[in-house]
Amino acid sequence: MANSSIDVIEVIKTRRSIREYLDKEISDTDIKFLIDCAGYAPSGLNMQPWGFLVIKNRYMIRNLSETSKKSMIPLLEDMKNTSKAAAEYLSFLKMKGSDMFYGAPVLVIILGNKNAPTAVYDCAMAAQTMMLAAQSIGVGSCWIGGAQRSLVDENLLKELGAPEGYIAVAPLIFGYPKGKPKAPDRIEPKVVWVK
Ligand SMILES: Cc1cc2nc3c(=O)[nH]c(=O)nc-3n(C[C@H](O)[C@H](O)[C@H](O)COP(=O)(O)O)c2cc1C
Repeated sequence: MANSSIDVIEVIKTRRSIREYLDKEISDTDIKFLIDCAGYAPSGLNMQPWGFLVIKNRYMIRNLSETSKKSMIPLLEDMKNTSKAAAEYLSFLKMKGSDMFYGAPVLVIILGNKNAPTAVYDCAMAAQTMMLAAQSIGVGSCWIGGAQRSLVDENLLKELGAPEGYIAVAPLIFGYPKGKPKAPDRIEPKVVWVK
């Protein structure tokens, strides 16, 4: 295998969802680099229907965490008896002062153009591309799906600064990782070979 392929595989396999960050900003130049990389993701009809809302204002991130916690807690209450992960996440969110965004210095919400039929898939592709690019320059990341329910509110999205005509698809946090979390075990996927 060529060396360049090995590098990509290394990045894919070492990327982790980071939930503890150093108190260190990420430069605008590095964020621009990650956005540029995200733009190389494939997209349906090559519509490239993504937009990037970059929030570096820590006060706004904390506020969004509080709003998102309020919309997630009732959902998790309904799930807590059937899912251990939901029960654990619920007790974390109910903890006083807990931050859904783990104190990360930047939140990037990948926005999908409402007019593109495959915007959600396209933005998810852009999200993974961006997180892998981040890993390659030593920046940690995590997709915060917990914020999704609050972000369906168009007024909230507008208040955050999103342009008209977009929905929130992927709320991603970025920052320099504090430590190196162990990879959660991978489940053997169901694979069907048809030859
Ligand atoms: C759509 C999606 C939503 C997620 N939402 C959250 C979240 O709200 N909070 C969180 O801490 N991690 C979240 N994660 C991260 C997953 O928990 C993580 O990817 C998974 O545990 C595997 O760990 P790894 O990313 O380190 O391989 C989310 C991941 C995806 C793809």
